[in-house]
Amino acid sequence: MIIAVDGPAASGKGTIARALAAHYHLPHLDTGLLYRAVGSGVARNGADPDNEADAAAACAFPDTMLDDPELRSEAAGTLASRVSRHPLVRAALLERQRAFASQPGGAVLDGRDIGTVIAPEADAKLFVTASADIRARRRHLQGQSRPYDIILADILARDTRDSGRSTAPLRQAKDAALLDTSNLTIDAAVRKAIALVEEQLKRNR
Ligand code: DC
Repeated sequence: MIIAVDGPAASGKGTIARALAAHYHLPHLDTGLLYRAVGSGVARNGADPDNEADAAAACAFPDTMLDDPELRSEAAGTLASRVSRHPLVRAALLERQRAFASQPGGAVLDGRDIGTVIAPEADAKLFVTASADIRARRRHLQGQSRPYDIILADILARDTRDSGRSTAPLRQAKDAALLDTSNLTIDAAVRKAIALVEEQLKRNR
């Protein structure tokens, strides 16, 4: 069983994907980490994240790099968003994600294009969202030292970049269930996510 979870930054998709993976006893891949590893690799090489060849040269990183806590930083997120618009980068990371999705027993993947490009055949698809204001507040409450206004501006810029690129933009798949977490606690959002997945599984059976 493959479950695809897509959505914008700080929508709660990572938390929901991890909870679904635990509930259904499936392995989970946070695909944003792959783009974060590429973006951070480019920066480490002193190269330009907006240059496609420079970004493509950083795609052959070892899996151990995904454990680097630095990848979770806001700076790594912005670098990831910048390198992720290059078709060569998306192509280089495609097989890795498809192989994870098609492993025996299935998997949960979260990202921006899982339901549309990586696993269009997924058994269940969620598009997790929340208002930009709520997402910025969440980041602020998570202890980021930056002012709320700056966090909000970054989130809006990331949304524009991720939805506006021509290759595999952030978009709700036609057959994905929408889950707006703006006014939900984490527990309520997870319960709703499981209910939406169950509905889709029943329908596809
Ligand atoms: O999910 P995240 O915030 O860690 O993702 C960081 C960036 O990586 C995001 O702004 C866009 C890019 N990304 C992508 O283009 N496709 C994915 N499947 C996952 C992430």
